[in-house]
Amino acid sequence: MFQVTQLIAAPPLPDWAEDVRRGLTASPRRLPAYLLYDARGSALFEAITQLPEYYLTRTERAILRAHASTIATHSGPAASVVELGAGTATKTRVVLDAVRAIRGSVAFHPIDVSRDALDTATRALGGPGISVHPLVGRYEDALPLLDGLPGPRLVLFIGSSAGNLGPVGALRLLTRVRRSLVRGDCLVLGADLPKKPGVLLPAYDDAAGVTAAFEKNVLVRLNRELGADFEPDAFEYRATWDARASCVRMGLESLRAQTVHLPALGLTLRLARGEHVETERSYKWSTHVQQQLLARAGFKPERVFTDARGWFAVHLARVP
Ligand code: AVI
Repeated sequence: MFQVTQLIAAPPLPDWAEDVRRGLTASPRRLPAYLLYDARGSALFEAITQLPEYYLTRTERAILRAHASTIATHSGPAASVVELGAGTATKTRVVLDAVRAIRGSVAFHPIDVSRDALDTATRALGGPGISVHPLVGRYEDALPLLDGLPGPRLVLFIGSSAGNLGPVGALRLLTRVRRSLVRGDCLVLGADLPKKPGVLLPAYDDAAGVTAAFEKNVLVRLNRELGADFEPDAFEYRATWDARASCVRMGLESLRAQTVHLPALGLTLRLARGEHVETERSYKWSTHVQQQLLARAGFKPERVFTDARGWFAVHLARVP
């Protein structure tokens, strides 16, 4: 007798699955922050940027508005503007308009992991004198592109995203960006500054619970894309200020002892009550430390713009 065996091919694992395995089996447990930005996560982050407590976006926008024409002039003006982690790129409009006002036209290359966010950016920013060329991908995916773009090039790494990479990750990325550019090309780095926990913590743990929903959404994503069985309600979002490391630490605390299965990874997690899964860090460096970071990556910091309260910094740096 023949035995008929039906072979059902398992769907391929996403390329980030190994990062999840490594993070969840580490001690303390963690998840990669870039996983926060699926379609729902990107929409929630957009909502965060409009919260009264989240001062970062509106402060940086005001700085960019005040100094857009200086940035445009210093950059050449740039023929190509590349934005790493652009999201919906709402703050970028002023810079693109300033470059176009001098050059007549500019090509804009926003890079982001969220296709939805890039679609919004393309619809909002494309028009006479501004051509938009979106690329869905992580920061590193932009590097091979930089080489072939008409110069002068201007790379925007704004929104304080460098702070999510930590000192080692930020230096590594900035160094790689620097090596993909040529002499005279420019970089704009926008980064949050250290301040009182009384201002910082509400920005990362808002009264309406939008940030909590944003961070918990990563569990929903793991359930959907890896067949995991996390119960988001069995976790509490926590944000704390680590003064020694100068960063806000964000994570999810297990409200009870629980077992979670991730069948796609062949992984069973036993979480203790009170155990913490880190989802994100947001480092806050002084302007001096930010300038050192730029210099160590091989850039020459030329200008730094801040707001009246000294809450946020926008650097203009050049490849010497
Ligand atoms: C994207 N990034 C700069 C945000 C930040 O401020 O660190 C991410 C964020 N997470 C919670 N709120 C904002």
